[in-house]
Amino acid sequence: MIVAANFKTNHTRASTANYIEALELFLDAYPNSCDVRVYPPATALLRADLSAHVKVGAQNFYPAISGAYTGEIGAEQLNEFEIKSVLIGHSERRVTLKESQELVAQKYAFAKENGWEIVYCIGEPKAVRERGLGAVMEYLWFQFEGIDTNYEKLSIAYEPIWAIGTGVSAGVKDIAEVLSALKSELAQTPLLYGGSVSVDNLSSIVSLDSCGGVLVGSAGLDAANFCKLIQIAQNAQKR
Ligand code: PGA
Repeated sequence: MIVAANFKTNHTRASTANYIEALELFLDAYPNSCDVRVYPPATALLRADLSAHVKVGAQNFYPAISGAYTGEIGAEQLNEFEIKSVLIGHSERRVTLKESQELVAQKYAFAKENGWEIVYCIGEPKAVRERGLGAVMEYLWFQFEGIDTNYEKLSIAYEPIWAIGTGVSAGVKDIAEVLSALKSELAQTPLLYGGSVSVDNLSSIVSLDSCGGVLVGSAGLDAANFCKLIQIAQNAQKR
């Protein structure tokens, strides 16, 4: 079960260090089988090889080792921190930062070449959801254009855009339908859900057969709350 916190543009270098320390202490005292990941902002990256239980990853990178890409970071910068886990295709990058499917696919190919673990994010806008499951799946499959889904270090995060940061998660039935449809084509790939995951809805989401974990934004910003999410995920998978 993957339990991942995406900090987005929150936390500083100092507060991320405190957060990881708190999480490590908690995980020392609470052995569990969750794959716990934290994706801080680039300025707050910590050496991934120095934490025993938490996997530190990058929210973003440019698909180059180094070079003339003002404002971006490449493999050279991530390697310095031993980062081996990345997010790709988050809707905030696709929509707000205008990343095209072509660029997303280039980043994916680059991460794969480097052997990084990828959480590949997909999700539909509200207008598409209103047209029903068929329209949602058609939209989601387009987001796999140029993506090699046979990559063994891939997990997919289904994150409906309208559920991200709104406090309104998708309904469990809707999540179940989409994850099962994805599972029918991607049997080997862990499927995560993201979008207003909280201590109140996590258990019912991770209890779904095809759900292999969660990608959490707001509810993961506080270390103590994130620890609660890990406990709930662990208990749900024991049942
Ligand atoms: P949220 O964000 O939990 O705040 O909705 C999830 C995400 O964007 O990954």
